[in-house]
Amino acid sequence: MSNNLTQRPEYMALQAHHTTMYDKHMRDLFADDPKRFDKLHLKLNGLLLDYSKHRITNDTMKLLVGLAKASDVEGWRNKMFAGEAINNTENRAVLHTALRGSVDKKVTVNGENVSEFVDKTLQQIKAFSDKVRKEKKYTDIINLGIGGSDLGTCTVYNALGAFADGPRVHFVPNIDGTELRLLLDSLNPEKTLVIVVSKTFSTLETRLNAEAVRAWAGKSAKDNFVAVTENTKEAEKFGIPADRIFPLRKWVGGRYSIWGAVGLPITVAIGFENFQKFLSGAKDMDTHFATAPLEKNAPVLMALLGIWYRNFFNFASHAVIPYSQGLQSFHAYLQQLDMESNGKSVNRDGEKLDYATGPAIFGDPGTNAQHAFFQSFHQGTDIVPVDFILNAQAEKGYETHHIQLNANALAQAKGFMEGAPNNDGHRDYPGNRPSSTIVLDTLDPYHLGMLMALYEHKVFVQGVIWNINSFDQWGVELGKVLSKDIVQALESKAQTGHFESSTEGLLQHLKSRPAQ
Ligand code: F6P
Repeated sequence: MSNNLTQRPEYMALQAHHTTMYDKHMRDLFADDPKRFDKLHLKLNGLLLDYSKHRITNDTMKLLVGLAKASDVEGWRNKMFAGEAINNTENRAVLHTALRGSVDKKVTVNGENVSEFVDKTLQQIKAFSDKVRKEKKYTDIINLGIGGSDLGTCTVYNALGAFADGPRVHFVPNIDGTELRLLLDSLNPEKTLVIVVSKTFSTLETRLNAEAVRAWAGKSAKDNFVAVTENTKEAEKFGIPADRIFPLRKWVGGRYSIWGAVGLPITVAIGFENFQKFLSGAKDMDTHFATAPLEKNAPVLMALLGIWYRNFFNFASHAVIPYSQGLQSFHAYLQQLDMESNGKSVNRDGEKLDYATGPAIFGDPGTNAQHAFFQSFHQGTDIVPVDFILNAQAEKGYETHHIQLNANALAQAKGFMEGAPNNDGHRDYPGNRPSSTIVLDTLDPYHLGMLMALYEHKVFVQGVIWNINSFDQWGVELGKVLSKDIVQALESKAQTGHFESSTEGLLQHLKSRPAQ
């Protein structure tokens, strides 16, 4: 039986409550309660979440938590940690939390003890990364992978630049010959370690790039290629020997995989100890998520606020704005995490939903974003809830920069909330635009681990309430199938005539252009 969200009494109570809330201004909520911040923030091992600048009252939060309880968030959370096959369309357990040691040591999947697999893989990663760092043979690493085999790693590498003392890491997700040529022209194959990361080892982009890089590497390819994959057979067929293959398992989805062998380039760049700190930050967030009461549970609160805006206010997008250049690709990582997980319009049983699910996620670091799209955030017709992410620690010697950076974040959040009424419409700021602010004591491996796990669990909770499977991604398959047919058409000299007129017209136009 499907759970029909909109028929739940808790949902209807929120609908009724919304009619009393939609025109309440946050300015007044703050004026009415000078202690609002005290009540609406959480502190957790060097991570602060301020959720006071939201269009909520105590009643709102009680009703939202009631909805989470009625949706059995706690039950689903326990099922996930216990290794039940909650990815029902693929009949798979969902155990990325095991990669950071957060599941019971007795959990097995298909007869394999999960924790033993995790420990063994970590030992393999440690041995390899220690050796590479010690030998100093490589100046550079190329990470060949896309989606979950790229975005998490790239985000972590950018964020932890200050900790990187190993080889430089380059990321090549796309099949753009220009990008690849420019990179390869700048590298020496003898000094470049190539890590082919693909859970399936069948992703077109990664295969094509791996073949091109292997050709470029020539004789060096024999020693300098390693693979991270679940499909060891294919990797071996490609020519990578078994002892240089780092294993993945089906019980971790690509977008949740940074915590295991996919993190190999990170470990080589920052060292195993730092990678362990990254894992322990995530582990502490797991413990918080698994044990804190829902009303004091950071990922649950963030999820509920998202539901409040998406389903009751009808806000269709959500922005994440880190005031930290290190987190420059955080929004890209979140786009996959959130939109590939919750961009669904059928429930777990495949039935069409009559309510909205995952919003469009976007972002960019502040202050850059202020000079690009914040105009619309202040005065546009659509309201975009924002997550501001701040790093409390300044770069040594750049304290003034830091004050300016964080002052801008606080100023924007304040401006979104309060607005600034003006009789001249052009200069009127309506305010009442919600935001959360997350402050990390510092941007280090531990706090980055906490932050990423916080968002993973937020996405999970929303998926539970929407009653969708957050762990499959059937939507990306169609494009893969269609492109095969179009590749053939582009390669052949003949007119094809079997596509509709737009695709056909574009094909003919592309074919009529000089190739070089
Ligand atoms: O096409 C989407 C996707 O399947 C993602 O879910 C995944 O992270 C990415 O492709 C890469 O897949 P693989 O690691 O198997 O190459």
